[in-house]
Amino acid sequence: MTISVGVDMVSLFRAELELCKLGPGQVLAVLSEGSIRMDYAQAFLLAAQELGAVAFQVNVPTGGAYRSDHLSGKVGKTALAGNRPAIEALKQVDIVIDLMGLLFSQEQLELTAAGVRMLLVVEPFGVLKQMFPTEDQRRRVEFAGELLHRSKELRITSAGGTDIRYGLSQYPVLTEYGYTDTPGRWDHWPSGFLLTQGNDHSVEGTVVLMPGDIITVFRRYVQLPIRLTVKDGAVTAIDGDGIDAELLRSYIESFDDPRAYSVAHIGWGLNEKADWHHNAASRELDAEIGMHGLAFYGNVLFSLGPNTEVGGTNDTACHLDLPMRHCTLSLDGRPVIENGRMLCKEMQAPGR
Ligand SMILES: [Fe+2]
Repeated sequence: MTISVGVDMVSLFRAELELCKLGPGQVLAVLSEGSIRMDYAQAFLLAAQELGAVAFQVNVPTGGAYRSDHLSGKVGKTALAGNRPAIEALKQVDIVIDLMGLLFSQEQLELTAAGVRMLLVVEPFGVLKQMFPTEDQRRRVEFAGELLHRSKELRITSAGGTDIRYGLSQYPVLTEYGYTDTPGRWDHWPSGFLLTQGNDHSVEGTVVLMPGDIITVFRRYVQLPIRLTVKDGAVTAIDGDGIDAELLRSYIESFDDPRAYSVAHIGWGLNEKADWHHNAASRELDAEIGMHGLAFYGNVLFSLGPNTEVGGTNDTACHLDLPMRHCTLSLDGRPVIENGRMLCKEMQAPGR
């Protein structure tokens, strides 16, 4: 098999690795699965060499039932599971470029606990290029992270009828600004948002998904309102007259797992380069996680399912990211986003 890698790709990947402060004396490993994203693997290896780092690739066979399946929203079990020699090799390096998708897996937790910094890269090249991270994005995401970290209560309201409260402080805040130069820290290129998780049993209220909000796993915009009733940290009812509510109910029921109804991470988007309308225009949706939707500027990202990425114990395979527009988000009674508009000067992107 011949793998052709464009100059464009190598130079963009090199710029990304420069943000990750890769240089001489460091070791980069590309982690891949089967034959997917071999062009990315080669481009990262070449870019790492150009920067004077030592680079190698770990490729694991696609593992049948344990195939990484983040594109379908089923998460947690990966083709790296149980491959002890591969895991041990990866624990020795400075940075792992994850092209297979270890998010929500035990293997990812083990690697970061060993001090390895990790970067997930699975989106199509055009998405990587358009949403390329900047140091300014990092500054704004970290500012927002500090604000969220200091808060004890988060409340979301909207004209559509959302009114939900989260008790905070039990779980850490996770920032995602699209690169990582910190040992043991995970990030995802591209990103531009932050999240945390409500305290156990302390999320209560109603979320109304409105037309234009996104059901990421379906790559679909909500057409008719869906009302989610949340009690004691979990969804107890999914109501709505349209096909959207029915699809959402049917999808969650298919996992046959009560933990799929748990409210998961909560946060907001800060990436002004991400387009809300992207799903309507893209011709590559089947190959995307949907980072435009997760990160677009001023969204409130509500989600259901697992919470292992913030240290929780819910490892259900059903994960639903549900970015919403036009919400007001308050921390300890003080609005920081109003109807989708960023109120804090420190979080505002240039020109917004
Ligand atoms: Fe998520």
